[in-house]
Amino acid sequence: MNITIIGTGYVGLTSGTCFAEVGHHVTCVDNNPEKVEILLRGEVPIYEPGLAELVKQNVAAGRLKFTTSTEEGVRHGDVIFIAVPTPPQPDGSVDLSFIEKVAREIAQCLTPETGYRVIVDKSTVPVKTGEKVAETVRRYAPAGVEFGVVSNPEFLREGCAVDDLLNPDRIVIGSNDERALGLMQKLYEPFVAPVLVTDINSAELIKHAANSFLALKISYINAVATICEATGADVEKVAEGIGMDKRIGRQFLNAGLGYGGSCFPKDIKAFIAISEAIGQPFHLLKEVERINAAQLDRFLNKIREKLWVFREKKIALWGLAFKQNTDDVRESVAIRLAKKMIAEGATIVATDPQAIDTAQRLAGLTGPGISFTDDPYACLDGADALVIATEWPQFAAVDLNEIRKRLRTPLVFDGRNLLDPKDAAAAGLEYFSIGR
Ligand code: UDX
Repeated sequence: MNITIIGTGYVGLTSGTCFAEVGHHVTCVDNNPEKVEILLRGEVPIYEPGLAELVKQNVAAGRLKFTTSTEEGVRHGDVIFIAVPTPPQPDGSVDLSFIEKVAREIAQCLTPETGYRVIVDKSTVPVKTGEKVAETVRRYAPAGVEFGVVSNPEFLREGCAVDDLLNPDRIVIGSNDERALGLMQKLYEPFVAPVLVTDINSAELIKHAANSFLALKISYINAVATICEATGADVEKVAEGIGMDKRIGRQFLNAGLGYGGSCFPKDIKAFIAISEAIGQPFHLLKEVERINAAQLDRFLNKIREKLWVFREKKIALWGLAFKQNTDDVRESVAIRLAKKMIAEGATIVATDPQAIDTAQRLAGLTGPGISFTDDPYACLDGADALVIATEWPQFAAVDLNEIRKRLRTPLVFDGRNLLDPKDAAAAGLEYFSIGR
């Protein structure tokens, strides 16, 4: 099928590429000419395992094209995806101005001769946005234009986005237009995954409800971790024990510094704002946020308790990205932690397999209190403590004796429970983690 993706951000670029990979003809539109130029050269502006190769292959095969022209995109795609940012506003509600603008632009490119078009919302949007998109397109398009509007939320995780897209747990398609639903089902035929067809409002709600539930799971286990610490229980065992119940499941029960990233913090805020706007405040989600914020403070207190003061202390920091396998530092707890320690007078030597550049350029982690190295061991030389803030698997596979040898004082604070407490103790480390 011919499809168009408007917006080549994380979701737009990866889904466009994966649609091309399964055989569709995809045109990706972005209003940033520099980005389009990079993509036309076969380069990828983000770090996502496997993506660069797929972009290159599909461009070479002629199935993936990039342009700055919405008009070209609208002419090409029978199905037109909107995948532009939906950033939070200061009050937590979602800024839908990019979606509105793209809806108007699509409308103005449509003519009765274009033929029937499916306009699909892939960005995470509040329930009832699809209705607004339909209204807007109707208002700005010439008379006689035929189109349907669909909500098709994306559930990919950064770091494994390609695999999540090619092998999703489920595909959600919501529309009140039968013709649009038929075309969407055809589009997803090459994917081996259950397809859930709903009305448009339900599909939109599924995305916010799913992300909020996952964040709730994380906050739940973090709250349990606090109780484990107070009672001498081990949160890893508790998570295993409750996760073995199929109704609960082990995933997203990793206690740690809490969730960050470009989705959970923003989506939970948005869901709270949506619930308040309709007069049904979702108080539970406020508690999820409160627990998440408290994790960092509790961890800092733990470090403070041992170091006594941060001033004149050198800290080795492992991890800057908001999670493993990404260079993304948006809402990264690791960055927040680094900034807080620096503010209290510590000097940080940080490492991360991918996010050193983004931490400096995009998260503003610069200045006299911080330096960087690619080598996790080099960070440790002469440091008063090691702090682990991101769950990169490399950090779990280190030589504990080497850590002890290099640190000035053998204090290790593991905010992601990567190391084994027994092994750490055997190596002579004074080891602190979360909930055990
Ligand atoms: C998330 C959703 O998983 C995905 O479906 C949605 O489309 C976008 O938001 P992502 O933000 O890429 O994906 O990362 P995810 O793997 O979900 O992790 C989010 C945060 O939660 C990270 O900061 C991670 O460190 C933290 N986390 C995750 C935990 O603290 N414990 C866990 O058990 C799992």
